[in-house]
Amino acid sequence: MPEIKVAIIGGTGVYNQSLFSDAHEVSVDTPYGSVSMMEFEYNELRVYFLARHGGGHSVPPHKVNYKANIAALKIIGVETVISTAAVGSLNETIPPGSMVVIDQFIDLTKQRPLTFFEGDDGLVVHTDFTCPYCPELRQTILSAGGRIKQELVDGGCYVCTEGPRFETPAEIKMMKQWGGDLVGMTNVPEVVLAREAGLCYSTIALSTNYAAEISGEPLTHSEVLEVMDQVKPGLDRLLTACLEDIKGKFNCSCRESGQYWPKGS
Ligand code: HPA
Repeated sequence: MPEIKVAIIGGTGVYNQSLFSDAHEVSVDTPYGSVSMMEFEYNELRVYFLARHGGGHSVPPHKVNYKANIAALKIIGVETVISTAAVGSLNETIPPGSMVVIDQFIDLTKQRPLTFFEGDDGLVVHTDFTCPYCPELRQTILSAGGRIKQELVDGGCYVCTEGPRFETPAEIKMMKQWGGDLVGMTNVPEVVLAREAGLCYSTIALSTNYAAEISGEPLTHSEVLEVMDQVKPGLDRLLTACLEDIKGKFNCSCRESGQYWPKGS
């Protein structure tokens, strides 16, 4: 039985890990609901693939059960999580088709569960987010990209909106002024809960369009899916390369941030 457990959370356009034919479905019960995912072995890794929006993209961003997803990964012993996220680009140097290993986020969500630590049990936890994405996992993704010659942008600020609507041009203008590079609807609270649970978590953001008004055309979900289809083969190669390069536990401090989990859950 391989000891290292890694998860891939697939976002829009990434619904199955097609490279691995021997995957089987597993279901994990958590205090927040049960979660289904695919499990397979790759080299010395046990890998779990979880489709964030459900198999047929049936769950909108504001209804994803983020707490159950992260709790399920924690319960089965996953330590490392690579997530994918389709995003609009606010930055003209990050055109559609680019892959970005993001390093910061701005939270503009409004009514999602924000934390495992609701304070009901008297436990108040303020988690450090100076370095929101696992630095060692980010470096592993970047060097895996270098090895397979997949161009990656190193760093970028992801602005997370509540969705499910796309943004207004005024909102995009504001986000640009704030230093945002990309806009999406799902990275928060996923990244927050992952850190609270002590997981090493990092996101590969896939730019599928220029954000509202930058391209001059109205935005559609089918345009997002079309570009995702184009980048999917490169993304599959990158994910496989990342799995090849994960050799053990990282020496980062992500695990220490999980010291209170699951007490407050
Ligand atoms: N805005 C928000 N989420 C997105 C976009 C966008 O332009 N493109 C893909 N996901």
